[in-house]
Amino acid sequence: MASPSKPDRVAWIQGPAAQCHPAPEAVAKPWRLILLGAPGVGKGTQADLLRQRLRACHLSTGEVFRAASKQNECELTPAMKAALEYMRRGDLVPDATVWDMVRERSGCLRCGGGFLLDGFPRTLSQAESLKQLMEAEGLPLTAVLNYELPLDEIVARLSGRRTCEKCKSVYHVTERPPQREGVCDRCGGALYQRDDDRPQSIAVRLEAYERSTEPLIEFYKKLGLLLHVQATGSPESICERTLAALTASRAAAPAQT
Ligand code: AP5
Repeated sequence: MASPSKPDRVAWIQGPAAQCHPAPEAVAKPWRLILLGAPGVGKGTQADLLRQRLRACHLSTGEVFRAASKQNECELTPAMKAALEYMRRGDLVPDATVWDMVRERSGCLRCGGGFLLDGFPRTLSQAESLKQLMEAEGLPLTAVLNYELPLDEIVARLSGRRTCEKCKSVYHVTERPPQREGVCDRCGGALYQRDDDRPQSIAVRLEAYERSTEPLIEFYKKLGLLLHVQATGSPESICERTLAALTASRAAAPAQT
């Protein structure tokens, strides 16, 4: 089956002045999901598969920062320049910068097609800010997916990742290789290794995850939104597992979602 055309998400990636093509289709019960899990667990890969099935946009905060890093340096605000330095080291970008960026793009959270938030929130402060905004807008979250994988597999996934510089499709040198080495199957763009996928940055990112992001598991558990998903096996089997968990949780709480 041909996958539905992928909205270019420019309103998310470039900011609210830009308009997405095609505009995401509004649906009766939009999925509003957060994807949690350690760096490299496969959130981006799952978000891409899920958006084809659920028709919700994949909104990654890391992607916004990486797009900014490709801009001319004099077009960047001082806060964004500082943010990119944090990112290169593998550290978390300060909450205030991340929140300004997300709030500016809150139209994407209101979008009638729903959303798959990947990489946000990542701290309790970000989660509180998002909760307040969603409550003020009357937009309930459907669920928070927590992907789980042993550490050695996480490191192997990160070290072998390659990303398309044009369409951002994600590959792995052994687990999900492109048909032609170094070339994206989807758009022919060149594949590159992210700066923060080098060993010294991977260690910093995993430490930042444990310190700042793991507490969100308890936060969303208390809100009754958390769904655990084992991230072992093929991406397609993990996606099926995710869809089964979502269907079961929606059936159990039809009035809330
Ligand atoms: P971000 O872009 O969010 O990175 P991340 O959370 O570290 O997650 P990754 O993109 O590394 O991994 P993923 O889980 O999406 O895995 P993927 O699907 O690619 O953030 C980058 C940086 O930006 C942060 O470090 C921070 O500095 C900053 N930032 C962003 N948001 C922020 C925020 N809210 N607050 C503060 N700072 C923020 O898969 C990984 C590899 O595994 C790929 O090669 C893939 O092909 C392969 N793979 C996937 N699934 C499978 C499978 N089932 N089997 C085998 N291989 C697989």
